[in-house]
Amino acid sequence: MQKQLDKLMRLRAEARIGGGQERIDKLHAKGRLTARERLDLLLDPGSFEEFDMFKIHRCRQFGMEEKEFLGDGVVTGYGTIDGRLVYVFAQDFTVFGGSLSETLAEKICKVMDMAIKNGVPLIGLNDSGGARIQEGIESLAGYSEIFLRNVMASGVVPQISAIFGPCAGGAVYSPALTDFAVMVKNNSYMFLTGPKVVKSVTHEDVTVEDLGGATIHTTRSGVADYAAEDGYDAIDYVKKLLSYLPQNNVENPPYMDTGDTPERRDEFLNQIIPQSQNEAYDIKEVILRTVDNGDFFELKADFAPNLVIGFARYNGNVVGVVANQPNFLSGVLDIDSSVKGARFVRFCDCFNITLVTFVDVPGFLPGTVQEYAGVIRNGAKILYAYAEATVPKVTVVTRKAYGGAYCVMSSKHLRGDINYAWPTAEIAVMGAKGAVEILYGREARKSPNPEEFLAAKEKEYSDTVANPYVAAKRGYVDDIIEPARSRFRIIKALEMLKNKRDSNPMKKHGNIPL
Ligand code: HXC
Repeated sequence: MQKQLDKLMRLRAEARIGGGQERIDKLHAKGRLTARERLDLLLDPGSFEEFDMFKIHRCRQFGMEEKEFLGDGVVTGYGTIDGRLVYVFAQDFTVFGGSLSETLAEKICKVMDMAIKNGVPLIGLNDSGGARIQEGIESLAGYSEIFLRNVMASGVVPQISAIFGPCAGGAVYSPALTDFAVMVKNNSYMFLTGPKVVKSVTHEDVTVEDLGGATIHTTRSGVADYAAEDGYDAIDYVKKLLSYLPQNNVENPPYMDTGDTPERRDEFLNQIIPQSQNEAYDIKEVILRTVDNGDFFELKADFAPNLVIGFARYNGNVVGVVANQPNFLSGVLDIDSSVKGARFVRFCDCFNITLVTFVDVPGFLPGTVQEYAGVIRNGAKILYAYAEATVPKVTVVTRKAYGGAYCVMSSKHLRGDINYAWPTAEIAVMGAKGAVEILYGREARKSPNPEEFLAAKEKEYSDTVANPYVAAKRGYVDDIIEPARSRFRIIKALEMLKNKRDSNPMKKHGNIPL
């Protein structure tokens, strides 16, 4: 027996060292961690149970039969994070650059299948040179099998990707299909084709970082949610993110006793709206001052900052917060912010996460740039997402709610459950200035003092139409609330809605404008 045990120990040790100490040292020299080091940081100590440690590739070309590494470039299994079960895979760059072989794909698919079957989140730590070149189409088949499972798992269990190194070619589509992606600054990159191909096709000179680095994907493309400073920061981000998520689509997100008092008033909120309609303020102040302990986990903070999204807790219960940001582009809705909001709202709806929406939006961004790029089609996405969402929806209009943007932002008419307005709210078909120019432009031109004439009409329009009382009279807002008491009023509404049940007509699936 001892002999067999020794053999087992020897093989385990061999598997644990992946592609060998030399390659591990090379990785460390670049400030990167190994797959196993990342898993050690991610999972509760001693909780990891590994699968397929002895699995090897089956390639018999290009001398591959001489190069076999136990585990074949990915570490897979399950463990816990803060006591909660997760399935994981971590690509091992020290084995053929973490490239995807047929067997490596089989290992990943095994944990994906288990995650779906057992209703457990899936976390993928990506670090791979793409398809294993020696294998060819077997690795393409492997990718496709993974993509299929990403789609099957979508809306069933939360899927999180962290990208620590290369992620190129079709390989990018797995992280893109998952619910959240975090990248590491200066070490990770994602693109369909690398700089050399770009140069030959479009003649552009571009670096890896400028083409698909963490900064690009968190500011320009919106592919990733967060650009981590390093591997440690990325792992911390994933853990905190998970703390807001339920295990699957039939569970509720985890409750946490935060110790914050529900009744807490915040007098500053009674002063936060500036005197001038056109002056900005930071909507994040409103979020931070109303949620438990000012703890707001923002997602995609640097992409389309005119819309703020993220998770927080009210009285210990997780909510998804969506808010127009007057501090950036006056909080206008455009293509990027609509898509950002729509995907987040749909995520929350899939996973029973209540939505709290703060509205201060002057409308959709006008102009040829937006129209040509499809602001109609893309703006419709956020509308669609709010309309189909059946989770509890609480809305607070702090200031502007104009035109189509009023309709879209979780309005009563899209099944908003509780819609509050601050006394400063201006709910109208359009802003007073634009409205009077259309209504009284001709008259103004005839009057001796057009500016004065229009200013008077503007005031008249604001007083009669652009206030919360017109909407309140019709029941489009349920109450006009004191800003300082917003936290308490939101919490009361959320408690009242906690057993909400709503549904959509039977269908295979809807056809969201894409
Ligand atoms: C096999 C690979 C590999 C790959 C890297 N390696 N990529 N082996 N298949 N795709 C191996 C290297 O041979 C090397 O082996 C080790 O991994 C580390 O690679 P280095 O090049 O030394 O590392 P580095 O300088 O950090 O460069 C990393 C890299 C580069 C940028 C990822 O290796 C690279 O460009 N690789 C090829 C990327 C690629 O074109 N992939 C195919 C894309 S097509 P040794 O033994 O020396 O340690 C694709 C289609 C998917 O993915 C479609 C899905 C639908």
